[in-house]
Amino acid sequence: MRRFVILGRTATSSPSFSTEDLPSTSGRLDVLLRCLRAGLLVSHGVRSDTLVYLVLLGGEHAPRALRFEGKEARFLRPDERSLAILVRKVLAVPASDSFTEVRPGVSMAAGGLEVVLGDLPPGRKYLLEQGAPDIRTEILSEPEITFFIGDHLGVDASTRETLAKLGVTPAGLGPVGLHAEDAVTVVCNELDRRVLT
Ligand SMILES: C[S@@+](CC[C@H](N)C(=O)[O-])C[C@H]1O[C@@H](n2cnc3c(N)ncnc32)[C@H](O)[C@@H]1O
Repeated sequence: MRRFVILGRTATSSPSFSTEDLPSTSGRLDVLLRCLRAGLLVSHGVRSDTLVYLVLLGGEHAPRALRFEGKEARFLRPDERSLAILVRKVLAVPASDSFTEVRPGVSMAAGGLEVVLGDLPPGRKYLLEQGAPDIRTEILSEPEITFFIGDHLGVDASTRETLAKLGVTPAGLGPVGLHAEDAVTVVCNELDRRVLT
């Protein structure tokens, strides 16, 4: 199973945002929604081998974490507005201490990175960072593999330290700084080429 954990330092945990103006009203939840689309949706389908976690550290209900399971998710549409409407419905529900399904394939928990870490299985874990050793030097064939990705602000120092202590490996995707959703796409493509061909 592939897992992507998107760390939203400002993305809202509250449903009170405007789907007409996501960037200004949602703490840049739009960045995370594009990562969700890139990780989970392909042309005419959903990746059934993938889970995407969104860590929401902004807004009045923070921290909250959302988990999207490709195998179970229904009615996921690729446009940002539809995904925002889905997330708004999920965020309108009270969050439990552990991941609880709110919509088919979409679960929510009260908590941030720690609640996601508690949900991850053993297996290789990478923190994507510009300038880190190239991911192409890694084998990437493990059955359980997780990637941590920053938002528009990148990953803060204390989170980097936490992940380093847990043995998470920094990995780079080449010399150019990418948008977070493009980083997800590059990793998906790298895995597809190695595992599916
Ligand atoms: C828009 S970038 C963050 C930019 C931010 N100014 C910074 O310096 O961290 C969002 C995320 O995409 C990933 N990313 C972007 N370019 C990358 C690269 N060349 N290699 C690995 N990860 C990358 C990282 O996880 C990063 O935190």
